[in-house]
Parts: sequence; structure tokens; C-alpha cells
Amino acid sequence: MKVQVLGASGLLGKAVMREWSGDDVVGLSSPDVDIRDREAVREIAERVRPKWIVLAAAYTDVDGCESHPDLTFGVNRDGAVNVAEAAKQVGAKLLFLSSDYVFDGKKTSPYETGDARNPQSVYGRSKAEAEVRLLEVLPECCIVRTSWLFGAGGKCFPDTILKLAATRPALDVVSDQRGCPTYSVDLARAIIQLCRKGASGIVHVNNAGNCSWFEFAREIIKAAGLTAEVRPVSTEQMARPAPRPAYSVLSPASLQRWAVPMPSWPDALQRYLRERQP
Ligand SMILES: NC(=O)c1ccc[n+]([C@@H]2O[C@H](COP(=O)([O-])OP(=O)(O)OC[C@H]3O[C@@H](n4cnc5c(N)ncnc54)[C@H](OP(=O)(O)O)[C@@H]3O)[C@@H](O)[C@H]2O)c1
Repeated sequence: MKVQVLGASGLLGKAVMREWSGDDVVGLSSPDVDIRDREAVREIAERVRPKWIVLAAAYTDVDGCESHPDLTFGVNRDGAVNVAEAAKQVGAKLLFLSSDYVFDGKKTSPYETGDARNPQSVYGRSKAEAEVRLLEVLPECCIVRTSWLFGAGGKCFPDTILKLAATRPALDVVSDQRGCPTYSVDLARAIIQLCRKGASGIVHVNNAGNCSWFEFAREIIKAAGLTAEVRPVSTEQMARPAPRPAYSVLSPASLQRWAVPMPSWPDALQRYLRERQP
């Protein structure tokens, strides 16, 4: 099977390129094709003629998005529509990466795929609007919503915590935001299985279980054998430009319907820490 991965130089894209074997996988990043360029996106799809396009390319600086809405919507919504139109033209299936930030975080039980979108940030709005447009262009596309991504080859929370813990006796970490950490390797493996199974519709993909950032940081410190103290603080105390959902736990039911298992986040974290320190 021929596959085209857009965003191959990103945190997830790198894992997808590493994990995918047995198929002909072409990885592209922004120097190869800017997804805002409709014609270039179409041309490359015609040249590659993939069976699947995995769209992991996005402008992902959530705080930066607040001050650059044109860039955000240009890449995350309009760029995604360009890719969907090209996929339609060449008869390819599309798997699009979306986010837990399409929700407002006001629920207290896991979000199901059919729950109403109500994004609170520019980044979340760009993803929510992309989802709606993509389902119009390609009703059979697969939308994978994921959250709290970590892994090798990009900026990620465990790396930040380990770096801080190496130089500080105590760290303040937000304890009133709850979500699901997701290891890029596990997400990549799930994406490969979803493509091979011909998945369509909205699917929530993250490691099993959930935690607050504070609990995640405590587990990172413990698993790495460090001694820094982790202190809980509120979102209000750690003001950031983009609002974050207070609760964005995604229900595993949609992924279970495709019979794709996911390991728990503490298991994923242990593997990541082993793999980053050979
Ligand atoms: N990180 C998270 O916590 C998280 C959570 C939920 C959902 N997601 C979604 O998961 C996907 C992968 O995220 P990630 O963390 O792997 O992202 P990332 O590390 O920031 O990588 C983004 C990728 O997109 C490419 N890109 C950016 N602008 C582009 C453009 N205009 N045209 C073509 N390519 C462009 C980048 O290429 P260059 O390197 O060449 O610039 C890079 O390969 C994204 O859709 C993201 O929104 C991420």
C-alpha cells in the first residue's frame, strides 16, 4: 500500500515514519510542500498516488496561535481542506489529526466522539472548523483526536520536567487540568492499524487512563528516580495566552470499536524514558 505522510518531520510524523514498515511510505514536511498551497498539494498527491494520506502537519504552538490567527486557520483549517480536496481528486483515503482542544473542558466524564465541539482557543477553533469542513469534503475520512502528545524528536512535557528537575529542588505544576497523555510511538502504531483496517469517522486515540499535569509530572520524577518536589498549582496561577480545557479526557470507546488496543500512560512513559536514555 502506498502512503503519504504530511508533517513527517514533526513529533508524531517522525514516529509514524519510524514505526510504519511493510508499506511504501512517503514522508513530507513543509520544505517539500506547504499545505497552504492548494496547487502544490494537488500536484504532490497526483505524483505519489497514495492509498492513504496521513495529515499530521499543523501549526501546533497553542499559545502562538492566539496571536497568529491567520497563520493558524491558514494551515490548520484551510491547509487541511486543500489536502482533503487533493485526496478526493486522487481517490485516496485521509486520516486527519485533530485535538482534545475542540472541546470546552466543562464535562466531568470522558468525551465521546459525538459530544458537541466548543473550542475555547484559536488553535481549538482551527481544528474544530477543519473537522467540520473535512467531513463535508470527504465524509468517509478518518479524524483522529489525540491529546498531550509526548515522545522523541520534539518539545514534550516529560523532557521539560526532567530538565527543570535537574536544576531545581521543587517544581510548580498545574493540578486542575485533567487529560490523557499520549506516547507518539503508541499513537503512530494505532494510526497504522486504523489505516490498515480502513477506518473512517471520528476516533479518539490516547494512552489508557488519565491524570492531571501535576500527577503526570510526579510520575515522571518518580520513574526517572529523581528527588525534586512537585507542588500543585492552579491554572490561574500559571496564566498562559491560550485557555486550556480543564477536563479533556477522551473516551476510548471509539478506538475499541476498531479493536485497536492502547497501553496505559504510565506504561508508555516508562518505555519512553527507557528509549530516550539507551
Ligand atoms: N502535540 C500535541 O500535544 C498534540 C495534541 C493533540 C493533537 N495534536 C495534533 O497532532 C498532529 C501532530 O502534532 P505534532 O506535535 O507532531 O506537531 P509538530 O511536532 O509541531 O509538527 C508539525 C509538522 O507540521 C509541519 N508543518 C507545519 N506547517 C506546515 C505547512 N504550512 N505545510 C506543511 N507542513 C507543515 C511541520 O513541518 P516543518 O518541520 O517542516 O515545519 C512538522 O512536520 C498535529 O495535527 C497536531 O495538531 C498534537
